[in-house]
Order: sequence, then structure tokens, then C-alpha cells
Amino acid sequence: MTIITHVKSAAQIVTMKGASYAPKKGKAMSEIGLIENGSVVLIGDRIAFVGSDDDAAAFLESVEGDVRIIDASGKVVTPGLVDPHTHLVYAGSREKEFEMRLQGIKYIDILKQGGGILSSTRSTREATLEQLVEQGYARLDRFLQHGVTTVEAKSGYGLTVQDEIKQLEASRKLQEIHPIDVVSTFMGAHAIPVEYKGNPDAFVNVIIEQMIPLVAEKKLAEFCDVFCEEGVFTVEQSRKILEAGKAFGLKAKIHADEIVQTGGAELAVEVDAASAEHLLQTSDAGIQALANSHTIAVLLPATALFLMEKPARARRMIEEGVAIALSTDCNPGSSPTQSMPFVMNIACLSMLMTPAEVLTAATINAAHAIDRADQIGSIEVGKKADLVLFHAPNYQTLQYHFAVNLVDTVIKNGKIVVEGGVFIANRKKASN
Ligand code: NIG
Ligand code: FE
Repeated sequence: MTIITHVKSAAQIVTMKGASYAPKKGKAMSEIGLIENGSVVLIGDRIAFVGSDDDAAAFLESVEGDVRIIDASGKVVTPGLVDPHTHLVYAGSREKEFEMRLQGIKYIDILKQGGGILSSTRSTREATLEQLVEQGYARLDRFLQHGVTTVEAKSGYGLTVQDEIKQLEASRKLQEIHPIDVVSTFMGAHAIPVEYKGNPDAFVNVIIEQMIPLVAEKKLAEFCDVFCEEGVFTVEQSRKILEAGKAFGLKAKIHADEIVQTGGAELAVEVDAASAEHLLQTSDAGIQALANSHTIAVLLPATALFLMEKPARARRMIEEGVAIALSTDCNPGSSPTQSMPFVMNIACLSMLMTPAEVLTAATINAAHAIDRADQIGSIEVGKKADLVLFHAPNYQTLQYHFAVNLVDTVIKNGKIVVEGGVFIANRKKASN
């Protein structure tokens, strides 16, 4: 039986309408398509109506079947949040490195000494596929509790053919069994593994000649990402890897200009990447290049905060017309969090983005960053029935009442998966 759901009397509905074909840039990032005292009707796993309560009543007269009603009075309804940059699948944790960093040791120096990403690589190599799935599942649960209904997930803690495949297989399994949709990215170019210390080009060859073809053949990823950074992968190596990925149908993404300005943003535009991520050090020219491109700037203000660095220049980017998305960057080293709402809070407080802009960045623009804007990221007829109901009388309060989880209800593919802030028993992938 098809489930019909009527979410009614919402204080505000943030629809994000009108940006499914192109991301919101500049002033358009403030246009969030607000409806006051509104309704959303879901039929099965799709949105069938959005508008006023009165028009919803008329619409429902034309629909056959029992209607489940969700009272959204006093609440803000948004599209399911989209997290377009995570390192979801890994084993181990790095709280000791956090303490070292609090004493002044730099993140990149910990990596150079064999810790950081290489420490998570050791634990991930030791873990079985089942253990990675179990730990990833628990992280996805936390994402869901924070209103996230789609995440991107990168590999990059295996760094051997076999271990990269194991990580990507864990992502695929999670996509199959967890209600959240998981979009997979191959990131074998995340660090130079110890076996190739001093000979990074040989590792680049393994990525290009062995990993990328196998990942493509097994259809384990949709995107290919590179950590383009001083002491990690150079611009030339990154270009080679991303071009090789593209030749095998993997769309490009780049960790760019995070610690040092390398020209990563310009490279992202050159290879027509779906997104350029971090961008803490991006130059004015890099911002200009992004503004004149299809590439989305995925900003990670929780990472900047956690690394105690200055955040990206979001205001300048918005003024120049760059399309911005936001993400947790969930990973064991530089951002161990699953809270997109908190990332949105930080984006306001540290980068001076407005409450409207951060909603755009966490929904429709984030959907564009993972090439899913035709399906998710806005409340429009025909899109996936992914919604979040927040305990807030208006959208500004989502940022004003900060650092608490205001999520009340999460609907994924038309199914209620979180209610009253808690999981519904036996949740699994919705099939209708
Ligand atoms: O996006 N910068 C590179 N990769 C991750 C961090 C991964 C880690 O520290 O484990 C990032 O911040
Ligand atoms: Fe990252």
C-alpha cells in the first residue's frame, strides 16, 4: 500500500524551489522559497504537493487512500539536509592527536610524522569489512538524528588496492542497508602511504593504473577526489589523477587550498570538477575562477574551527558569485562530527553567512555538489520525499538557538525514520 503523508500547518516551509538545474549564487543564495502556514503532501517516496494548507486540502480530495497526518505547527520544515563531503568509513579514533594539537602541534606535521590520515589508515587496514560497515552504520544513525538524509562518502584510509576496495564496498553496503543515501567517492589520493614514502609518483601510478580502473569496473564510486596539498599531492599529480578518473567516468572533486595556497581552486575549475573543498587559502584569482565556473565551493567551517585555523572567505565568495555548499567533513582527524546543524551555526558565526544562505548551502547547493539536484535538496513536486521538521518557529531560530539539536522528525523516502528526536524501531532502507 502506498503511504500518503500530509505534513500540515507548518509555521514555515523552506522549499528552496527553482534551483534544480543550476546552483544558487550570490543574492540568490538568500532566496529560500519560504511558505508560511503550509503543507507538504508525500505519496510513497515522492513529494506530490507543496503549498498552503487550503490548497493541500483541495489536492487531497483528488487522491485515493488513507492519509497519515503529521502536525507541523510551531515547526520549520526543510528539505532533508545533504552532506556533500564526508570520510564516513574508517576505523579507530585520534583523540590523542587532538590533545597534541591543543598543545600547538600542527595537523600537517602530525601527518608528516606518520600520524593523522596514516594513523587512520593503519586502523582501517586492520578492520574487516563487517567492522567498517558496523561503525559506518552508527555514524549514519547520528547523521540521521541531525536531519541529514544524503551523504557523500570518500575512501582514502586504505591506500592499497585491496583496502580501498574494502572501504568502498563498506560504503556500498551502507547504501544498501541504511535509510540514508550514500554517494560514493574514490579517494585513493588521500595521503602517500608509508610504503611509497619518498616515491610518490610510484603511488600515483598505482592509483591511475590499478585503483581507478578497478573501482570503475566494480562501479564502486561516482566521483574521484584528491588531497592537493603541499607535502601530499602536487597540482601536477592531482591533475593526472583527476584526468585519469574522468577517463573512467569518475567525476572530479578536489581537497583544495586547505593548508597552503597551491592553486587547487584553479585546478578544480580547469578539470571542471563538481566541487572544490576546504578553500581556506584560496586566492582572489581562485575565487574569481570558481565564480565563473560550474564548480561548487564546499566549505567546511567545522574543520577550520577544529584545526583552529581561519575559515574560508565565504562573504567574498558570495559577493563574487561563487555557489557555496556546506559540509561536516566528518572524519576521525580534522572534523569528528556528524552535526550539519552545528556546521550551519559555525558558518554563521565564523564566516558571517546568513541563516538563509546556510540553508541554501546545506540543501540545494549541497545536492548540486554531488550531482543529485534533480532528486533532492528542495521541496518540489516529483523530488524524493526527504524532509526535516525542526522545533523552531522560524528559520532564523535554527541558527540563533545554536549548538543544540532542534530536529524533531526526519522523513526519508516517505518513511518516518526519526520522530520526537528519536529513531523509529526497525528502520531500514525504504522501498516505497
Ligand atoms: O578533509 N584534508 C584531508 N582530508 C580530511 C582529513 C582526514 C583526516 O584527518 O583523517 C579533511 O580534512
Ligand atoms: Fe575531507
